[in-house]
Amino acid sequence: MSEQPRRHFASDNYAGICPEAFAAMAEANAGHEVSYGNDPWTAKAANLLRDIFETNCEVFFVFNGTSANSLSLASLCQSYHSILCHEMAHVEGSECGAPEFFANGTKVLLLPGPAGKIDPNCIQRAVNKRTDIHYPKARALSLTQATEVGTVYSLDELKELAEVARHFDLRIQMDGARFANAVVSLGVTPKDLSWQAGVDVLCFGGTKNGLAVGEVVVFFNPDLAREFDYRCKQGGQLASKMRFLSAPWVGMLQDGAWLRHAAHSNAMAKRLEQGIRDLPGIEIPYPVQSNAVFARIPDPAIEAMHQRGWRFYTHIGGWEESRLMCSWDTTPEDVDAFASDLRAFLS
Ligand SMILES: Cc1ncc(COP(=O)(O)O)c(C=O)c1O
Repeated sequence: MSEQPRRHFASDNYAGICPEAFAAMAEANAGHEVSYGNDPWTAKAANLLRDIFETNCEVFFVFNGTSANSLSLASLCQSYHSILCHEMAHVEGSECGAPEFFANGTKVLLLPGPAGKIDPNCIQRAVNKRTDIHYPKARALSLTQATEVGTVYSLDELKELAEVARHFDLRIQMDGARFANAVVSLGVTPKDLSWQAGVDVLCFGGTKNGLAVGEVVVFFNPDLAREFDYRCKQGGQLASKMRFLSAPWVGMLQDGAWLRHAAHSNAMAKRLEQGIRDLPGIEIPYPVQSNAVFARIPDPAIEAMHQRGWRFYTHIGGWEESRLMCSWDTTPEDVDAFASDLRAFLS
């Protein structure tokens, strides 16, 4: 057997900082700079984002995905509204009620759909279920791209969802913690997958793509961004030394590192799927379309792999599958070592 694993498949949050982000952070560390976002790094990162999305969007750098989702959703809703999301969504199950908290009680309503994706027919059902004054009025549709189970909404699927959302006057928020993985998976442009697909506000994830910390809230509809700076400040998301949140984005965006890292982690997930899918007792329930592989693994093999030193989540969120996440720094050797250990335990 090989040596103890050094990298794991538990989460793309386990990985360190990618070299491009690290170098930009080091460069930003020279001397003094103006605070609270009025610095040249933040201006440069914001302009790079406008170039990448090919539009004059409003951007806000925040610390993490929970705040990006919660504050953006709060900006779309009044307290008497509701937010529709998939029943597996991070905003529902992994944010400790933060969207409802920051939106002052806005109710989150759950929609089903196969492979982690919302079924458009369920939107209509949810909106029409109750239209009386006693029930919160549906106002926002939250889509996760790539989804919690590593699948990706196609452009056609998004188009259909956007049409239904428009029909019911719902604004669209996208949880893009793994937006980069979705962009490279589909081979489309960032604009195709965001404002041209009807997205009003995107939470563009950086942490899972190689930053130490940080996501950007990108408003394509400037009216919705009104006073969002105050919301960030009140929510504890206005970084005083903002350049250390924004400079790493410059490092990631200026020469396409964000796309290279996402393409790499997606490719590692494909390799992992190929390495384990035919092993006895393994089932892969969802198509592998980003950097996640969900696998049903017999319990004794899970136990043996954990004992061997591999870390990965099992039964995450009460689901049956183990979740195997690849990162920007996952190597082919890591993947092959994992597959080979699993093969050994299953045969
Ligand atoms: C789909 C999704 N959205 C958002 C997040 C961001 O969460 P955090 O607040 O931990 O940065 C995550 C992280 O696991 C996620 O998987």
